[in-house]
Amino acid sequence: MPVLIESPEGFAERAAGWIANAIRSTVETRGSCAVALSGGNTPKEVYRRIPALPAVPWRKVEIYFGDERAVPPGDPSSNYRMAQESLLGPAGIPAERVHRMEADRRDITQAARDYEALLPEALDLLILGIGTDGHTASLFPYAPSLAERNRRVIQVVGGEPLTQRLTITPPVIETARGLLILARGAAKAEAVAMALEGHLNPTLAPAQLARHGIWMLDRDAASRLRATY
Ligand code: 6PG
Repeated sequence: MPVLIESPEGFAERAAGWIANAIRSTVETRGSCAVALSGGNTPKEVYRRIPALPAVPWRKVEIYFGDERAVPPGDPSSNYRMAQESLLGPAGIPAERVHRMEADRRDITQAARDYEALLPEALDLLILGIGTDGHTASLFPYAPSLAERNRRVIQVVGGEPLTQRLTITPPVIETARGLLILARGAAKAEAVAMALEGHLNPTLAPAQLARHGIWMLDRDAASRLRATY
């Protein structure tokens, strides 16, 4: 379901508030909250706003990731680093509750196996972005990863520049109890329309795997949608 946020200044604030609320209510009902973060510039601006929000029960939150490049944690392109700087550090979330995808390990196949053993059966909140090519997490158009049904985390090569990565697989998106997709800007409009209203073919448009989630869109990202929501 798309949620249109008209005010450009309000986007990050509104999405941050939604995430904080989702965490609060999950902790209230389930006692804890397993959140998986995505990379990307849109999420980053949202994450930065969360630490200032009141009454988020961080002590009951476990943090996971949806994908990661095969780079060390301090690398500028590391999703872990971005999350650490924008949200996890400022919110004071202790290291033992932050589960980095160790895509930089020499044995990346084993790193994938270890990470899927670590992931809870279902995430309480999975936050995703969408690329202009329609990818989400590191599930890229036409990639064999899109057909994966048994593994929950796998290694892939993809993106620009082409990089080795770890990514969650389609079943992790399907089983998440809460799913939030963040997209801003006209460059995303076509991919968003394909994801939400296109003929169902996740091989071509991987973000369709998240069609059932809450899509927070600014006016530009929503500009190619045909239906009015
Ligand atoms: C990553 C991602 C990726 C991202 C989208 C959107 O690490 O690159 O997890 O799926 O969320 O590409 O990124 P932007 O918000 O920067 O456009």
